[in-house]
Amino acid sequence: MKSAISVQYLGHSCFLIVTPKAKILIDPFLTGNPKAAAKAEDVECDFILVSHAHADHYGDAVSIAKRTGATLIAVYELALHAGAQGVKVEPLGCGGGKDFSFGRVQLTIAHHTSSVEGSSGPVMLGSPVGFLIRIEGKTIYFAGDTALTMDMQLLGERKQIDLAMLPIGDHFTMGMEDAAEAVRMLKPKLTVPMHYNTFEAIQVDPGVFVREAGKHGYQVEVMQPGASITL
Ligand code: NI
Ligand code: MN
Repeated sequence: MKSAISVQYLGHSCFLIVTPKAKILIDPFLTGNPKAAAKAEDVECDFILVSHAHADHYGDAVSIAKRTGATLIAVYELALHAGAQGVKVEPLGCGGGKDFSFGRVQLTIAHHTSSVEGSSGPVMLGSPVGFLIRIEGKTIYFAGDTALTMDMQLLGERKQIDLAMLPIGDHFTMGMEDAAEAVRMLKPKLTVPMHYNTFEAIQVDPGVFVREAGKHGYQVEVMQPGASITL
């Protein structure tokens, strides 16, 4: 029997996965996030996964990694950007994965961009990605910021996804209609929506997504910031 995993939603696209072996933080945007369920200075973790360099994902990653000594896992260019600030990093390439003490992380395709603000405009930091996390016998798919993509169908055919975190906020990522189609392709046991209602531009009623996915028999759990689920 595998041990239970708890997944806590900290708001926007930030999740804290706690297993018997490690605490894994994803896309920590807490400072300046009106919906954040924790303060950056209070979060404890061993690993930080960052999907791309936009401030609403990369946000507190460097400061938390410095304070906790956590290893930051990201695509090559973003990992090196963090590494240059004195953080322990594990650079990976899209499609590549690695076994860690807690399980396996593989980078998946996301259709979006990845940049930080430079003195004369955005500076690109490699490809944005999602994550496929294999942990304690469970498979978690964190899509990152992305459009609906046929690559999701490939994941659904090849992986038994227990939990999918999908953006639904529209404007910067896929909206609810496309996210419901993503659920059909991914066939996850459970889906949690993310990347909505943090700002004016991404206001949606997640109940619509719950109904659309439900029409095809898929279960969606709308998590309030701070709430946890057990896998
Ligand atoms: Ni983004
Ligand atoms: Mn974003």
